Amino acid sequence: MKIVVIHGPNLNLLGTREPAVYGSRTLADLDAEIAAHARARGVAVETFQSNHEGEIVARIHQAATDGAAIVINPGAYTHTSLAVADALRGVDVPAVEVHLSNLHARGPERARSVTAAACRGIVSGFGFASYTLGIDALLAGGGAPPKP
Ligand code: DQA
Repeated sequence: MKIVVIHGPNLNLLGTREPAVYGSRTLADLDAEIAAHARARGVAVETFQSNHEGEIVARIHQAATDGAAIVINPGAYTHTSLAVADALRGVDVPAVEVHLSNLHARGPERARSVTAAACRGIVSGFGFASYTLGIDALLAGGGAPPKP
């Protein structure tokens, strides 16, 4: 199995961005942890970050061509982007949504995800481990198919 990990907007600022919420480690640290986890599991992984909705949509489309499953943290697009949700529904690729913070502990505007129903499931609130748990969830092959 091949996995592409997609980081959405502002995740490039990890390390300096709201450290009380997101911690003090950087995106490079996170990508290194993802790569080490994937290596230990014997799975190929690629990481991608963009602050642009259209680039995220395009990377989701490319995952279908590459035959790669998706772990995605859509950042704030989680709460707004029907385009990202439609892209996830539009490709025949299993996806897991992940969040560093617990969306359900951060107020009503963050508790709602428009993208989660287009994924197999969601891991939220475990910091960097949300990503490695997301990879393991994909490898376990479970989760419900996307809801229309
Ligand atoms: C986030 C949560 C979102 O609400 C926020 O906009 C982010 C990060 C998380 O990983 O906890 O950018 O997706």
